[in-house]
Amino acid sequence: MNYLSVNDIDNLGDWVNQAIEIKNKPFSKQELGKNKTIGLLFFNPSLRTRLSTQKAAQNLGMQTMVMNFDKEGWALEFEDGTIMNQGKSEHIKEAAKVISQFCDIIAIRAFAGLVDKEKDLQEQVLTNFVKYATVPIVNMESSTGHPLQALADAITLAENKTKPKPKVVLTWAPHPKALPHAVANSFVQMMQMQDAEFVIVNPEGYDLDPEITKNTTVLHHQNLAFENADFIYAKNWSSFKNYGKVLSQDKNWEITKDKMKQTNNAKFMHCLPVRRNVVVADEVLDGNNSLVIEQANNRTFAAQLVMQKILETLK
Ligand code: CP
Repeated sequence: MNYLSVNDIDNLGDWVNQAIEIKNKPFSKQELGKNKTIGLLFFNPSLRTRLSTQKAAQNLGMQTMVMNFDKEGWALEFEDGTIMNQGKSEHIKEAAKVISQFCDIIAIRAFAGLVDKEKDLQEQVLTNFVKYATVPIVNMESSTGHPLQALADAITLAENKTKPKPKVVLTWAPHPKALPHAVANSFVQMMQMQDAEFVIVNPEGYDLDPEITKNTTVLHHQNLAFENADFIYAKNWSSFKNYGKVLSQDKNWEITKDKMKQTNNAKFMHCLPVRRNVVVADEVLDGNNSLVIEQANNRTFAAQLVMQKILETLK
């Protein structure tokens, strides 16, 4: 079993309930991971993913190996048949098989380059690890998805919703740098798996990949979208159509207290890290309705559930 995208969740409601059970009894499966090792390979920085996945592994009695591949590993070649007489020192074929000798599960973070859309959509790093590794693979954020974050978000929504069908708004917010679509994509896919009035709102030119959004409502007026919202999930992403470009840093899209007043006393969500007073005002982030720390905490139980399911297949 791999966990590569939200589509690997067979029943979201069941998974959320199981994750909440784990949260209530985090050490109940300590024998399951005994003598098993997870290797965490980071091609990009991380705080939450790195620590929560290590914590989840420890809760399951596993050993962890962490490698910052971008700084510590040999530069990897991914193309087949290349004459490797340039900068790349090791081919993915050997690297993935070798890591599989040391690890029972491999987890990988490899962001989108945001230059070549087709290459990013192909998920070169993740796909090649799946192809050449001989152990299960977990996606810790790839070019197009962040399914551990989305599962943590699903847990957080379930714990905080006060009605069966809440209104949930995913809103674009400004940011000075070009950011990937992964978090937004996986959040959209996860929301499509549950009963909610789900709306995406972003400026013109920032529509996400239509292959992801499918029939989900996409609006371009934030005030309209915020009306009666129970949850506001803020995230920046760069343009998908004008691939990887920052088309706007419009301050009017920042999440402020005044804007939150238009909602149904909505809870505020963000995956973190977040730029204060750019994406969201201090008063919202520090307010009682902010769920960002709960979301971060739930990353442990999302990762623990995924690892537990994988370990059960290895028994
Ligand atoms: N939300 C999230 O993935 O955080 P990190 O980038 O710090 O891991």
